[in-house]
Amino acid sequence: MKCIGVLTSGGDAPGMNAVIWSTVRAAHARGMKVMGIEDGYQGLIERRVHELTAKELGNCLDLGGTCLGTARCKAMMTDEGRDEAATVVREFGIEGIIVCGGDGSYRGAQTLSERGIPTIGLPGTIDNDLAYTDFTIGYDTACNTATEAAMKIRDTMTSHHRFGIIEVMGRRCGDIALSVGLVVGADYILVPEIQYETPYDMENIAKRLTKLSSEGAKSGLIILAEGVEYDTPNRAEVLCDALVQRTGLEIRSTVLGHMQRGGYPSVRDRSYAIQMTERAVELLHKGIGNRVVGVRHNQIIDMDIVEALQMKQTINKDLYDLAQQLGSVR
Ligand code: F6P
Repeated sequence: MKCIGVLTSGGDAPGMNAVIWSTVRAAHARGMKVMGIEDGYQGLIERRVHELTAKELGNCLDLGGTCLGTARCKAMMTDEGRDEAATVVREFGIEGIIVCGGDGSYRGAQTLSERGIPTIGLPGTIDNDLAYTDFTIGYDTACNTATEAAMKIRDTMTSHHRFGIIEVMGRRCGDIALSVGLVVGADYILVPEIQYETPYDMENIAKRLTKLSSEGAKSGLIILAEGVEYDTPNRAEVLCDALVQRTGLEIRSTVLGHMQRGGYPSVRDRSYAIQMTERAVELLHKGIGNRVVGVRHNQIIDMDIVEALQMKQTINKDLYDLAQQLGSVR
């Protein structure tokens, strides 16, 4: 291949800039040029494509967000949109594409592959919800950001002898909640994967808080994954009101929201982004597409995109049990 494209798609994630930066460097090192596609598939369909240079990118690998922009593209859900996207790719002489995003973005990549365009998926999402890889790019930074916020909230909860409910992102995946809950020693962690198996019982959570309080705990933290009751608006507030009613304790809720998606990418996110991108560029250079890159047991791996999308995400139950057990001791 002489020319490849790169796009970022779906919710942005810290480390996406490191992907763009290293795509250009790894491709140039192999004598290939790189076309940057703005705002994901939306920009592709609208022909917002230009050649990227190392000079233009500077040290963007340090920065949060994505310098190419990103979007969730409705047109890419239709055959017409997908055909148009493939036409534009050919118009610009792009022979292969790196797509950095989550599962929706991967489905778009798969449809381009089906239209004869080699694509490589890189896992760019804070949610860590792609089962084939141990880590997605952005997850580590989001966990660090959410942990810092949780610790700050705990400071004020402790001063006021209150219990705090903190809602974190993750779509239908509880990994951010579990990681944050474990490292802040949360009293309770609510994640969707456990809720699907055994729905959380409000009375049990209330009993646990009442017991903690009667044993002398004056404050505490509950980490709530947004995936628990994903489609319910104000879920943290609803939980808060229900627990106040049942326990009589003073409880406050905070939704961390989009702050979890911003900020400088952590060393781990940047390092994996750079290493995974190197594999992606290498695959395209060899003319190989229809694959996704990830990390397993600290090794960079690649696999078929269809197989990757069929894998079912699970939560680390042992870690969840450990976190719950440690959090319940006072
Ligand atoms: O997929 C990343 C994510 O931040 C999810 O955790 C969250 O549910 C969603 O995107 C929020 O999307 P939006 O930015 O469109 O509100």
